[in-house]
Amino acid sequence: MSPDDLRIWLNHFEYHAEHPRCIPQALEDVLEPEERRLIAGSIATFQLGEQSEGNTLLRATQQFARKNQLPALVRIMELFIREEQRHAALLQGFMEEHDIRLKHRDLTDRVFRRLRRLAGLELYMSVLISAELIGNVYYRALESATGCQRLKVLCRTVVADELVHVAFESLLLLELRAARPSWMRALMRMAHRAFFVATAAVVWVAHRSLLRRAGYDARSFLHSCLAQYAFYLEPVTAILASTSVQ
Ligand SMILES: [Fe+2]
Ligand SMILES: [Fe+2]
Repeated sequence: MSPDDLRIWLNHFEYHAEHPRCIPQALEDVLEPEERRLIAGSIATFQLGEQSEGNTLLRATQQFARKNQLPALVRIMELFIREEQRHAALLQGFMEEHDIRLKHRDLTDRVFRRLRRLAGLELYMSVLISAELIGNVYYRALESATGCQRLKVLCRTVVADELVHVAFESLLLLELRAARPSWMRALMRMAHRAFFVATAAVVWVAHRSLLRRAGYDARSFLHSCLAQYAFYLEPVTAILASTSVQ
């Protein structure tokens, strides 16, 4: 990414840090007991996933930014981490008002955190964008599964931020990959896609009751997740596929 591109991203994140998206107070906020039972464990897992001090990401970014003389990248990541922490706080606020217990540990969350610590910025971004792309499908499913207006708007608010996150992460990741030899790029793409499919399968198993309520079965959920993956990470393939359908 050029310094000019980074300036545009920095403007975006700075603007949203100064004007964070808010949930209107006057919204209807009724969660039926049956619905609460359906979403409690599931929303708690995603709330936990949104929480992070971001130390590993900041360290990896600082190293990369120093090497490539891109100081704005560090500030962007700081603001990005703050936005994720805000998602965690918004979800926590909703959960507390509805007596939904917070989770402090979860197996998939632990695996994701361990993987992200393994190597530099490129691996971190690959793992992070996988979680965020699947998260976007999940939050949209949660929005359509619930009758609670406040939760619907909360999901939409999180997705609005996340769409920008995945756009930024995918550009960065594709650019990091572009610096590799083509055989390694092909290998990394295959490994990433396999990891993504495995993660989507785990999310399906863990959250299937809620996802089923939103109208998904295993196949259509995986299909939706892969469509997101292709749109952001295989843009050329996605364009070719859409033109061949016409
Ligand atoms: Fe988030
Ligand atoms: Fe995000």
